[in-house]
Amino acid sequence: MYKLIDDNFVDKETCLRTIKTELIVDEKQLELQDNSLEQYKETHELEQHSDEIKYLMSEFESFMALHLLSNKKENSTILDVGSGISVQHPIYFKNLKNSNLTYIGLDPFEINPQRDYLFINGKFEGLHKYIDFKFDNLIFSTSLDHLENLNEVNEEITKVLKKDGIAFFWVGLHDPEIVSRQALSGFFKSLDIFKKRDLLELMFKFPLILIKMYQLMRKRSIDLSKLQPMDNLHFHYFLDKNLENYMKSIGEIVDVKYTPFTNSVFYAVKL
Ligand SMILES: C[S@@+](CC[C@H](N)C(=O)[O-])C[C@H]1O[C@@H](n2cnc3c(N)ncnc32)[C@H](O)[C@@H]1O
Repeated sequence: MYKLIDDNFVDKETCLRTIKTELIVDEKQLELQDNSLEQYKETHELEQHSDEIKYLMSEFESFMALHLLSNKKENSTILDVGSGISVQHPIYFKNLKNSNLTYIGLDPFEINPQRDYLFINGKFEGLHKYIDFKFDNLIFSTSLDHLENLNEVNEEITKVLKKDGIAFFWVGLHDPEIVSRQALSGFFKSLDIFKKRDLLELMFKFPLILIKMYQLMRKRSIDLSKLQPMDNLHFHYFLDKNLENYMKSIGEIVDVKYTPFTNSVFYAVKL
């Protein structure tokens, strides 16, 4: 059992900045995890994110900062569940790392074990068996849909998060209404209202785009109702209502923010 003392994991004999706990052994979980690895090398390690993702990361950081910085507790800890494979702090914690919060990353990938921050190399489920302390806050940044058993996740949160601690979630929603709004807004991103060519092109193309989008979203609704996977990377495809119910099952929702024309939603949930 590790204690957290002066920014180190300490047990009877050792004092470490990285510890190893339980890794993923389930074959299906390993397969899904590995399917994302090439993408993570580009996004986490090289920070080659799209402009939209960089914008969302900074919005998520601001969302967390509102709650974290109004809390004047000394030496607060924050565990980032599924923090990825980068040696550096993730972009959504680049400014907050200069606050008095102790950031701890957790990820089951055995890649880059020595990091700029405290790191737990293991899966979230069962973490309480290895640590002798609780965290003030938790982050699940686009990781919740990668964890297979949501009941186990809920139980683990209650075991490792302090009473009154806040868990922050960034989740992508899959409701056809939301996904279609996001997709259609893409057609306006570079529109110049004073350019005749842009206007004419949009006027003629848009009715066809709408019909195509309607067909795609009908198919998506059917796939979702049959619980068909949308890709080979995730265990869950949250809908707005299901996610809200899951958040309520964890604790009190103290804040929620929908980011316009994207499918991202941020939740802050207190135990
Ligand atoms: C989409 S990435 C998110 C990375 C980072 N949080 C971000 O927003 O850029 C999901 C991460 O969840 C991790 N993950 C998968 N299963 C997990 C588990 N059971 N416990 C903790 N993390 C897990 C993956 O290894 C992966 O790094």
